[in-house]
Amino acid sequence: MDIRLKTFEEYEAAYEQAKNNPSEYWGKIAENFQFSKKWQDVTLGDFTDGEIRWFNGAKLNITENCLDRHLETRGDKKALVYVANDPSEKNQEFTYKELHAQVCKTANMLEELGVKKGDRVCIYMSMVPELMFTVLACARIGAIHSVVFGGFSAQALAGRIVDAECSVLVTNDGGLRGTKVTELKSIVDEALKEKDCSCVKNVIVHKRANNKVTMQDGRDLWWHELFDKASDKHTAPQLDAEDPLFILYTSGSTGTPKGVVHTQAGYMVWAAYTFANVFQVDPGESSKDMYWCTADIGWITGHTYITYGPLLNGATTMMFEGVPTYPDAGRFWDIVEKNKVTHFYTAPTAVRALMACGDDVPAKYDLSTLKVLGSVGEPINAEAWHWYNEHIGKKKCPIVDTWWQTETGGILISPLAGLTKTKPCKATLPLPGIIPVLVDDDGREIGETMAEGKLCIKHPWPGMLRTVYKNHERFMNAYLRTYKGYYFSGDGAKRDIEGYMRITGRVDDVINVSGHRFGTAEIENAIGKNTAIAESAVVGYPHDVKGEGIYAYVVTDLKDEAEVTKHINDTIIKEIGAVARPDKIQIVSGLPKTRSGKIMRRILRKIAAHDFNNFGDTSTLLDPSVVEEIKEGVK
Ligand code: WTA
Repeated sequence: MDIRLKTFEEYEAAYEQAKNNPSEYWGKIAENFQFSKKWQDVTLGDFTDGEIRWFNGAKLNITENCLDRHLETRGDKKALVYVANDPSEKNQEFTYKELHAQVCKTANMLEELGVKKGDRVCIYMSMVPELMFTVLACARIGAIHSVVFGGFSAQALAGRIVDAECSVLVTNDGGLRGTKVTELKSIVDEALKEKDCSCVKNVIVHKRANNKVTMQDGRDLWWHELFDKASDKHTAPQLDAEDPLFILYTSGSTGTPKGVVHTQAGYMVWAAYTFANVFQVDPGESSKDMYWCTADIGWITGHTYITYGPLLNGATTMMFEGVPTYPDAGRFWDIVEKNKVTHFYTAPTAVRALMACGDDVPAKYDLSTLKVLGSVGEPINAEAWHWYNEHIGKKKCPIVDTWWQTETGGILISPLAGLTKTKPCKATLPLPGIIPVLVDDDGREIGETMAEGKLCIKHPWPGMLRTVYKNHERFMNAYLRTYKGYYFSGDGAKRDIEGYMRITGRVDDVINVSGHRFGTAEIENAIGKNTAIAESAVVGYPHDVKGEGIYAYVVTDLKDEAEVTKHINDTIIKEIGAVARPDKIQIVSGLPKTRSGKIMRRILRKIAAHDFNNFGDTSTLLDPSVVEEIKEGVK
């Protein structure tokens, strides 16, 4: 059985099979991969016990599935096409044979430094091919990669290094993005000064930007010096299906970011299956399909849909170092034209930003190679959906609005390109194996087809997270205990008469800014580190380009707004990174609290959205005059 569904009827049949007999269905799908030992059980565990396992007992190496097994049939096919920040710099291209060799070299280099199975390797790099080599090299030797997005600050990086107790860190001297150089190595130096970061024994520095860096004797090593000597032959060890593959930190409604843990076999099957079916890229040896996902490998989208998903399918994946607006707002379309991109996957925030630059920009480029467009990261609004459809897809490319999360490993709800009828702004239907339900506030399943509620998933699927690193209790509480027996996504959704889903956004205290997730508590804690700010409350509000913006209400003795803004921005840049800077700051004399001291965020959210009515029940407010004052402050 092929993993690719070719018609809508095949999808419907697969959906029924996966629902009625998941073991049989996923067992058959998994036959398409290379395992050195077969599983004893296809699936174990449920949402009550939280001990989820897939393909239990099997042995495999995910990189043999990404690379080695394609060498005979697709050795000379392009695996990775790399587009640099500077448009005058030539693309770097790697065939499957070449990518395999690079990954083997990187694996040998890491092993030479003593990295072994189960060790955690932190990867803090800009979008260079070596980032992908490192990710795959870790996977090959069974080391657990923890990629930290290059936009995070030294403090944020340090927190993630300490939590995962990483022994090796791989970085660049600097990253090239537009006209800027991000000084990654010096941020690493800052981070490693932090308490408890002494777990890091070696830092490998890949040279990209040629900016000045200081190398610490005995700790820091140049990538090229190690890599050039390393052999390009590497025998892949066989790992257990449930050995961890990677940790990726993501924000939730409370506390510090959680280390989401994904494991080998289930993630592999899910990444490959969802990529094949949602995008329908032709994986043939001589296929010219050019798939491009514009995400950063620092996020889950870059893990599953730049790296693992396409390679597991033997497709060609493209990786871009730069930003959509450099050297000008036509860059994405220029890349599409020059590289004859057929499948293009981006975020609504990018669509909105480019839409604002005018219709004449994409009109200058030949976009006729495009066959499928994708959207991910946040709800796509109608205006952006139609613009994407008309000005980029020329009304001939299906738009796959893919709903999923770091925790889900891969796409859960999405049209299958060309198979599922699409509707504007709708993620449409669940993939086989996914049983979405809408629940009301009391956790009761809503039976009617047309309904709105909180989006939960009923049964485990292969690609889901297994735990929160070193904190299984937190995993249970965050995902499985809110609504007993269900995985709770934190999102709200609306289902139409045909069962099509529209995702409405987070219903918890998570803000989605340009597709980046932040917890309000996380931002408030960061602001709280500034001694000039007595207290703060942070909420999201509708933002034309970013989807949601960050609105901070702050209590401070300082009177000068510019000064307050500077204090807060400096603190946020230090604690989290520039991406989490508030878009709006309002100085208030107090926050609306209940008698028990809880901030009434509902009211603050309404005010931030300029909705000054219907505050709901305010009888528990300790001091209603605070609300009046805040309202006046906005008006
Ligand atoms: C949101 C990104 C609407 C959602 C893959 C989810 C979406 C959060 C969509 C996960 C979509 C993602 N439509 N909302 N197509 N895709 N989201 O972990 O709120 O960075 O919970 O994963 O993004 O963000 P994360």
